[in-house]
Parts: sequence; structure tokens; C-alpha cells
Amino acid sequence: MLEFKMHANLVFADTLREFMENENLGERDFILTNESLYERHLKPLNLPCGVAFLKSYGKGEPTTAMVDALRADLPQGLRRIIAIGGGAVMDTAKMLSLHTSAGKTEALFSLSSDAEKPVRMFDVYAIPATCGTGSEVTNACAVELESLHTKRGLNNDLMFAAKSVLIPELLTGLPYRFFATSSMDALIHAVESYLSPRSTPVSRLFSTAAVTMILEGYRYVAEHGPTRWTDRAKKFQLAAAYAGLAFCSAGCAAVHALSYPLGGSYHIPHGEANQLVFAAVFRKYKEKKPVGALNELEDLLGRCLEVPAEEALETAFRLFDRIQPRKPLREYGISDSEFQGFAESVTTGQQRLLSNNYAPLSEEDMVEIYCSIY
Ligand SMILES: [Fe+2]
Repeated sequence: MLEFKMHANLVFADTLREFMENENLGERDFILTNESLYERHLKPLNLPCGVAFLKSYGKGEPTTAMVDALRADLPQGLRRIIAIGGGAVMDTAKMLSLHTSAGKTEALFSLSSDAEKPVRMFDVYAIPATCGTGSEVTNACAVELESLHTKRGLNNDLMFAAKSVLIPELLTGLPYRFFATSSMDALIHAVESYLSPRSTPVSRLFSTAAVTMILEGYRYVAEHGPTRWTDRAKKFQLAAAYAGLAFCSAGCAAVHALSYPLGGSYHIPHGEANQLVFAAVFRKYKEKKPVGALNELEDLLGRCLEVPAEEALETAFRLFDRIQPRKPLREYGISDSEFQGFAESVTTGQQRLLSNNYAPLSEEDMVEIYCSIY
């Protein structure tokens, strides 16, 4: 049995001011964001509620320790958290909204089926400022577990945002590097969900739209130069939400699973870590199962890129490397002696993702994938 879930209450506003004027924020509301967005967009609004910057609690991708420290600082009796930022900010707000009697955030990731269910303490409004993770429309979050030094994902329907707000104005000032890594993440959400055995005709609609919009935007950027990505900012933002709606039901797979040890151990940003393993995972898929849904994806990519289906994947990978050049793993200080450990941690910790793979991957396959990009 397959399921398509969509709990999104999507709101479109031209400016943050326009949105906030309709929300009557007060003392029982709280904003989680980052300092540059605050200075640029929030400070002039002089809103009557508390504000915290995620970066004040630690650098890089969020960890369970950071979420716990922030949880301890939240005012009592909150009604809403408004999360304005990238996936890290939105995911953190979603985790904060869940409470278990165990107290610690890490406990949410190891609840047995007969454990007391978490409860939602307040609503989250998710407002993306990258283009992006799609976290604004999903029931998912990902965080580095402090005890294991690796990222883990969590799905819970209580984590659907009460409002998902798309405001293109928030992308102004986003550095190119963040545009590139976040849109790459969105593209990977779209293709992994497209190939997933849990995909449905409805999730594929969203995957297809996201792939088409992002590739059209990438071709435009490749032709006109990096600074011109902003001409397509609104479309990239919408495409990221479409990809979120697709993977919320159909799921992500091996690209995300194999990137998690890189993000967790070496703090490589999520979209960048995904791109590092993307082509290598898909080449392995092609080798293991050349006939199947992958051919439908090749047809779609071929139509978007105006090349024959047989050339579509490699043409796409070359385009992605023009949008953001990749570095070999060794340049991040990673040693090839770690690959077996990475593969074991993926096998034991990321079954939630691996079950969505287009073709099964053994630990040996995973080590080969890491070696091919070393
Ligand atoms: Fe992702």
C-alpha cells in the first residue's frame, strides 16, 4: 500500500512585513533565525517577541546538544515558533516543538513502539530563506546525534508546520554558494523521490515539476553566469517546496544515506555532501539495474536538457559541476581507511533511507562509491 501525505498550509507573501502584519505576534511567539536575516529583514519590523539565533548555539549543522541548549532557553507557554532560515533552522524549530517525558532531544530518535508518544508543545511556522530543503512542507527533520557523531532523520506528523510561508524577498542577499548547495539538495530530493519504490502518481507530479524547474534554472545560470540565479529565485524556492512535498511521502534514499557520515563527521554542508556522492550513487544504480524506473528518469532529464536519454545522466552531472564544482573527499581531510566504517554506519543507521533505494547497495558497493570520489 502506498500513501501520499500533504498537510501543507502554504502561504505566499511578497515580503516578510506583509506576512508579519497579518499575524499579530506577541509575547507568546518566538522567532528562530540567523543574525544576517535578522539584521536585514526582522530588525526593521521591531516585533514584540523573543528572538534567538541558531548559530549562537553552535556552528555547522545542528546537533542534538544544540537543540537541547536552545530548548532550555525557550520561554514558557509559547504559542508559536516562527523559523526563518535554511533547513537547519526549520528542522530545529520542528524538533523543539516535540516534547517527550525523557526530556532530551536524542530520546526522540530512539522511542520504542510502546513508548509514550511525544506531544506537540506549540505550532511552527516554517519560512525558508534558502531554496532549499523543503523542510517547510515535510514532517521530517535531520540532526547530528551527539552520541554517534552522525546525522539521523526523524519523521513525525506532529512536525508538519502549521504554516509554510514562501517569501521570495528572503532570498535576496543569499550568497551564491548557499543557493548552489540548497538547490542541489532540492534537486536530489526530487530525483530520489522520483525513483523511490514509495513514489506515487501524485508524488511524481511534484518530483517532475521540481526537476524541470531546477534544471531550467541551472541551464539559465550556466548560460548567464552565477550572479543571475536571482532572476529565477522565486522558481527555485517553489521547486524546493515541490520537492519537499514529493519526498515527504516517497522518501529520499542512498544519496542522502551515504552523505550523512560526511556531514556528521566532517561537517560538510548537507547539499554539498549530497552532491559529492550523487553521481557516484547513480552510476552504481545504472551498473546494478540498468533497466527500470531509472530509464524514466533519464527520459525526463533528457527532455529537460535536450539530449538523448542515454546521455542525460552524464550531461546532468556535468551541469551540476558547473553550478558547483566538487572537490574530492581527500581534500576534506577524509581518509580512505574510514570508508568501511562509513558504510557500516550507513547500513546500521540509515535503513529508513536505504529501503527507498532504486537498487539495493551492499557495504562493498558503498565503499566503491566512496573510493570513486576520493
Ligand atoms: Fe536533503
